[in-house]
Amino acid sequence: VGEDVSDATQHAAAGGREKLRVRTVDIRAASLVLIDQRALPHDELYVTCTTWQEVAEAIRTMTVRGAPAIGVAAAGALHLAARRAAVEQDERAGFLGALETAADALAETRPTAVNLTWAIAEMRSLWQRSATPPRQIASALFERAIAIHDDDIDRCRRIGEHGAGLFKADDTILTHCNAGALATAGYGTALGVVRSAFAQYPGISVIVDETRPWLQGARLTAWELKVEDIPFALISDNMSGYFISTGQVDGIVVGADRIAANGDTANKIGTYTLSVLAKEHGVPFYVAAPLSTVDASVANGAAIPIEERAADEVTSFAGTRVAPAGTRAFHPAFDVTPQANISAIITEAGVLRAPLREALAAALVGGTA
Ligand code: MRU
Repeated sequence: VGEDVSDATQHAAAGGREKLRVRTVDIRAASLVLIDQRALPHDELYVTCTTWQEVAEAIRTMTVRGAPAIGVAAAGALHLAARRAAVEQDERAGFLGALETAADALAETRPTAVNLTWAIAEMRSLWQRSATPPRQIASALFERAIAIHDDDIDRCRRIGEHGAGLFKADDTILTHCNAGALATAGYGTALGVVRSAFAQYPGISVIVDETRPWLQGARLTAWELKVEDIPFALISDNMSGYFISTGQVDGIVVGADRIAANGDTANKIGTYTLSVLAKEHGVPFYVAAPLSTVDASVANGAAIPIEERAADEVTSFAGTRVAPAGTRAFHPAFDVTPQANISAIITEAGVLRAPLREALAAALVGGTA
């Protein structure tokens, strides 16, 4: 249910920096409030979920999207599950069983983003270790979900600080999809880097891929950059080769849904194409992601599950069917960029370069994931 509370987004004037104060995922004592990312940029609506099932549906339907954001939403959903189960289940076994049911169902909502399973595992380890009564576990899960939320913002800020140094005055940065405040608890990964770089060099500008079929670039990244007053231009996805080959792009920065142990990276469909173009034309290609996006249990990109979404999301544009009725369409939502095409992975622990397997392993040991 959409609720128009557009004044909830505060466009702070503070020195022209960080104007976007949107609460992508707001974990409250008895609910979880999400900005409805399907309605942006036309309407700024907020959806209130009071059950874990409503949050699962919001993840499935892209009301909330972006790997870290759905992880945080799942953590909030498990708090809602615990709150309810603590009242409805008399036995501890029933309470824990209800949490496991919710965790398993939430993990299945979107299969590629590992931040989802990461956040669920963080919550699960708490209830598995805890010997306290259900109500106390529910309170502890509330605190843990908020900590996961706040920790994500902190990681994004550090990613931004590390990544800003990779760019110089007047650079044009190309980005794909939306890896901004809307895709995280706040600030963003790839867009966090853009924000930090822009704060340092106000001559920086951005080329935004529209990102068919969901148009996360045209709708969400453009919205964020507009609110932040960061100069940008929108292109359709098939224009990127033109801009890269004609020397109009100084660097590419994208987010990630899952990074395998060797550095192969799954991100929004179309990312792989950009990486090939970047390699061909000698343009640096950066992935910005928190260490919670690294899945060390997956050896390489071939083992990353790729979400398949509905064909009608491809046969339509902005909700209107554009292909003849009955047209067959393919819709892999992500692709894998091989580590060899990645110049560096920007994490909260620093900028990691080849050999990425070793760099990631060291960061995971010394980092905060
Ligand atoms: O299908 P989406 O919109 O959830 O896909 C999002 C992306 O591919 C992002 O680049 C990724 O999740 C990183 S977000 C910081």
